[in-house]
Amino acid sequence: MSLSFEIQRSTAARTDAERAAVLADPGFGVHFTDHMVRISWTKERGWHDAAVLPYGPITLDPSAAVFHYAQEIFEGLKAYRHADGSIWLFRPEKNAARLQTSADRLMLPHLPADDFIEAVRQLVTVDAAWVPEANGEQSLYIRPFMIASEPFLGIRAAEGVTFYVIASPAGRYFGAAGVAGIDIWVTDEWARAGIGGTGAAKCGGNYAASLVAQYEGYEHGCTQVMFIEPAGKDRVEELGGMNIFLISADGDLITPELTGTILDGVTRDSILTVAADLGLTPREERLSASEVLGGIASGRFTEAFCCGTAAVISPIAGFKSHHGEWRLAEQSFTRTLGLRDAILDIQYGRSEDRHGWLR
Ligand code: COI
Repeated sequence: MSLSFEIQRSTAARTDAERAAVLADPGFGVHFTDHMVRISWTKERGWHDAAVLPYGPITLDPSAAVFHYAQEIFEGLKAYRHADGSIWLFRPEKNAARLQTSADRLMLPHLPADDFIEAVRQLVTVDAAWVPEANGEQSLYIRPFMIASEPFLGIRAAEGVTFYVIASPAGRYFGAAGVAGIDIWVTDEWARAGIGGTGAAKCGGNYAASLVAQYEGYEHGCTQVMFIEPAGKDRVEELGGMNIFLISADGDLITPELTGTILDGVTRDSILTVAADLGLTPREERLSASEVLGGIASGRFTEAFCCGTAAVISPIAGFKSHHGEWRLAEQSFTRTLGLRDAILDIQYGRSEDRHGWLR
């Protein structure tokens, strides 16, 4: 049976003027709406006490398992306002399914997909005024997450868990650089995830583990880092927080295949689906770093981009490593920006939703 949600409205909600000031320049991940969703789970009772509550600090016992053993998973999706004022989610069932896959890996409970989608719908409905106008690329970024909240220091599958949804009005993840072309640092020293590890799960630990390489990239003027599968296999995986694609001169659109160490991105999947509409041939395959960098040098790959819910699609200008620098030949990013528009046009209701992705 589906959960029913109690709604406790905030008595400290921001005024229209305060909200308008935030929406004028929301940035990414810095401002939050007036409410959040909380649902509790215990081994004995299952999911219960679903509520929309005023946004605010969470009180947890210092021994809560999440603080000690990183039993945490999360999702990212967006709500888009269309020109007629209506508000839409993009493929939320994919996020619901991926949260279950991540839960399996971290031994957290499954939240039924219907309850996941209803939790998101409840929050977006109560905080609808926070969904930016359809006058650019702003949206409401939604962050569902699940933590092992039980107070217990033994290591075991979680027996007390809390699921939350928070939301944050968002502009471009990379700011203006998001369409101007970013540089990617290629690390062969640090790994993000290992074979049999948690790479395919959306868990906080993966992102924490990416930071040391990410900061090495910053020191070299790069915005993201590209991870290569270690163990001498030289296989390209993904970037610090998003998937990667390459476009060949003859129209192949290639992304590393999912092998259990890469996140199954919703934007990644959507790009693979719409590619043919733009005359591109989508391919998921094993790609070595030497193939990528050699292919850029030889002119085989003329464009590259990163993609994710937060970043949408951001063109890559070049790659750097301790061994050299590789610039993409096509710096006006024509096909990348064409794909970007194709995805954004569906999300913002400017083109027909042929795949039935909007809810
Ligand atoms: C997303 O794209 O939703 C993510 O979770 C990635 C993160 C870099 C914000």
